[in-house]
Amino acid sequence: MEKKFLYEGKAKIVYATENPDEVVVYYKDAATAFDGKKKGEIENKGYLNAQISAYIFKYLEKQGIKTHFLELVGEREQRVKRLSIIPVEVVVRNIAAGSLSKRLGLPEGTDLPFPVVELYYKNDELGDPMINHYHVQALNLATPEEIKYMEDTALKVNSLLKEFFDSLNILLVDFKLEFGRFKKEILLGDEISPDTCRFWDKDTREKLDKDRFRRDLGGVTEAYAEILKRIKEKAE
Ligand code: TMP
Ligand code: ASP
Repeated sequence: MEKKFLYEGKAKIVYATENPDEVVVYYKDAATAFDGKKKGEIENKGYLNAQISAYIFKYLEKQGIKTHFLELVGEREQRVKRLSIIPVEVVVRNIAAGSLSKRLGLPEGTDLPFPVVELYYKNDELGDPMINHYHVQALNLATPEEIKYMEDTALKVNSLLKEFFDSLNILLVDFKLEFGRFKKEILLGDEISPDTCRFWDKDTREKLDKDRFRRDLGGVTEAYAEILKRIKEKAE
């Protein structure tokens, strides 16, 4: 397959293919946090996230969620539909952690009575500020119908993934989704991995996600590998 470099993000490189409707995404080992202020590498992360994300997208597709995912090509590359990304990140939270704990003073680990949905403006220069429906309209980032579809889909994804990870003895604490336009549809895009979700072991509450990198907890690769191992065991 012939590939032409399109652009490079913090964690992935995107290549054009002969098909103008498709791109190939290469997952890097590079890791950043706090809007790129913290930089590092997580050994083998590209491979682990490409595989984990592929399993999750395939699972969601099977459950009726429309995603950009087409197939894994090689160890750390995915062929996906080429989206025009909507610059609104949708976060869903089941348990208080991270920025929600900080903002609202809820201790990390507090169960939320129902899933909490938040929107963020995808803009690195501004540090991805939290926004609401008014801001989305004022900035003309998406139509009210598009935002409703994204929020409804995010809640469906939450139900599906909460149950899926529960069967792996993992708590889905929170996660971030991105969506994009493709022809007349909106598809789930980007990745779903320990970079974009918080996963805690159900028995020990040990962190199995990027918080190990953000907070210098060590054992980062091992945590990502544990997630892939449990997913694979279930898939077999
Ligand atoms: P937060 O608690 O830092 O707001 O993060 C909420 C969830 O969103 C967590 O699972 C990590 C994920 N996330 C990203 O995927 N990208 C980001 O840039 C940020 C800030 C969070
Ligand atoms: N992905 C974001 C960054 O690099 C933030 C994060 O995941 O903590 O800056």
